[in-house]
Amino acid sequence: MIGFNNVTYTYPNGMGVFNVHFRILPGEFSFLIGPSGAGKTTIIRLIYMDLLPDKGEVNVNRYSSKKIRKRKIPHLRRDIGMIFQNFNLLNDRNLFENVALPLHIVGYNKKEIRDRVIAILIEVGLEDKAYEYPWELSGGEQQRACIARGLVKDPDIILADEPTGNLDPSTALQIIRLLERINRKGTAVLMASHNYRLIKELGHRFIEIKNGIIQSR
Ligand SMILES: Nc1ncnc2c1ncn2[C@@H]1O[C@H](COP(=O)(O)OP(=O)(O)OP(=O)(O)O)[C@@H](O)[C@H]1O
Ligand SMILES: [Mg+2]
Repeated sequence: MIGFNNVTYTYPNGMGVFNVHFRILPGEFSFLIGPSGAGKTTIIRLIYMDLLPDKGEVNVNRYSSKKIRKRKIPHLRRDIGMIFQNFNLLNDRNLFENVALPLHIVGYNKKEIRDRVIAILIEVGLEDKAYEYPWELSGGEQQRACIARGLVKDPDIILADEPTGNLDPSTALQIIRLLERINRKGTAVLMASHNYRLIKELGHRFIEIKNGIIQSR
């Protein structure tokens, strides 16, 4: 589903990720773990092809970083749900509208949008908050809203970049449990985190990165 073949990406300042090699199978749940600055976000950006490698190849589903054309990148991203740490919710739209946004972009009709958004809000436990605005929600609720928005397209991969970073440990664990539930329905999940304590006991695979170099996979 995701394959990195000896991938190097260097930012102009010389930082980046070097000779990265790993594979993620359909339906897998993996953590990408490493300290701040290790290269986790860089790896995630390489997966959704926001960055393209200087060397090596990234494969995601049937797309290759070596062959993909710019206008095909949105197609690749249709199958990927992205969840970011800083929420990225639009403050002038309520929760329903925020979650519906990816469906408008893909061109669903009104009824389909309504049905799907309500189903996803129930899934993440926010059905009562559908008509509230992001600034009326707690951090954990905003993060769940973000997950709802990432899920609404029914992706086959979820990329979660430090989705628990701003949350207290019990809310953070709740978010992980939610991702696990989604994963059990068949969606592959890759979650980046620097919080080793939070995730070490959970029994999932770890891909460990330090200074841009994979330490274990
Ligand atoms: N746009 C950029 N330009 C230059 N250097 C960058 C850029 N983005 C990241 N870097 C550098 O590349 C390295 C890896 O950064 P990356 O954002 O992938 O780390 P990270 O593991 O996600 O860290 P964090 O846990 O703090 O989010 C860091 O040294 C960082 O300073
Ligand atoms: Mg990061």
